[in-house]
Amino acid sequence: MTAADRSRFTGKVAVVTGGSRGIGAAVATRLAREGAAVVIGYRGNEQAAQALVAALTSDGARALALRADVADPDQTRRLLDRAAQEFGRLDVLASCAGIEHFGALESITPADFDHVFAVNTRGQLFAAQHAAAHMAAGGRIVLTSSVSASRAVFGHTLYAASKAAVEAMVLNLSAELGGRGITINAIAPGGTATDMAAEHAPSYQHPKLRGTMPLQQWVEVHGALGRLAQPDEVAAGYAFLASDDAAYLTGRTLPLDGGFF
Ligand SMILES: NC(=O)c1ccc[n+]([C@@H]2O[C@H](COP(=O)([O-])OP(=O)(O)OC[C@H]3O[C@@H](n4cnc5c(N)ncnc54)[C@H](OP(=O)(O)O)[C@@H]3O)[C@@H](O)[C@H]2O)c1
Repeated sequence: MTAADRSRFTGKVAVVTGGSRGIGAAVATRLAREGAAVVIGYRGNEQAAQALVAALTSDGARALALRADVADPDQTRRLLDRAAQEFGRLDVLASCAGIEHFGALESITPADFDHVFAVNTRGQLFAAQHAAAHMAAGGRIVLTSSVSASRAVFGHTLYAASKAAVEAMVLNLSAELGGRGITINAIAPGGTATDMAAEHAPSYQHPKLRGTMPLQQWVEVHGALGRLAQPDEVAAGYAFLASDDAAYLTGRTLPLDGGFF
């Protein structure tokens, strides 16, 4: 990282939803290390969120953790309002909060559908809406899709659909926000070594393959790089889309999947 990179976000204010763990925590860390004041949104894991704030502030950054369930648009609005009020402006939204779901067609309930879409889809739409309300020209919104939005995986319909909708959202919202000089894009991560992956990675294997091929070997043969991403490798993509270097890039979804096939 060059000296210029280290100051890419100096004077800027970023909100990272899902910032307490995994990809979001890596994004918050990256933006803070490059100079941003960071507000970390979390759902329930206050200990992890406060530990990250302590680490970032001891590193010289300005950081704050706020509880906000993105399934509730009012909580999301309060998160964005408070961030802008606390630090005087809002430049970047990195919307990383998300949940997994696996279940075959016959097992999916309306409650499952509503919950997955409330967090992964509706949650990101209203985060973008409330963030944009505070942003001036130069604002950057980065949502989170998944490699799953464009792959067929057994039993993954609900999650994949909730993420595919996000790709349609950034495409269409770019037309509205472009006139204000605000960009909106998404990252589509592939398998990334987080709590989510630790819990759900085995479900990506087709049921007929489970038990016949070790998961590690499956990862090796299904990706050009043959390994999961580390969260900070994915965070680099969010930082790029949030930076001035991405000023002419909007409405797109950037796959960051190590060549997953
Ligand atoms: N890991 C992967 O392989 C992978 C691949 C493709 C896409 N993704 C996407 O990348 C994003 C981050 O995933 P991850 O692997 O870092 O997940 P993770 O390790 O499970 O962390 C999830 C984060 O989201 C927060 N969160 C969950 N539900 C929330 C809600 N209703 N309101 C507010 N915050 C909520 C959690 O907060 P608490 O700590 O308070 O629970 C936590 O900070 C997700 O959108 C996921 O779908 C991940």
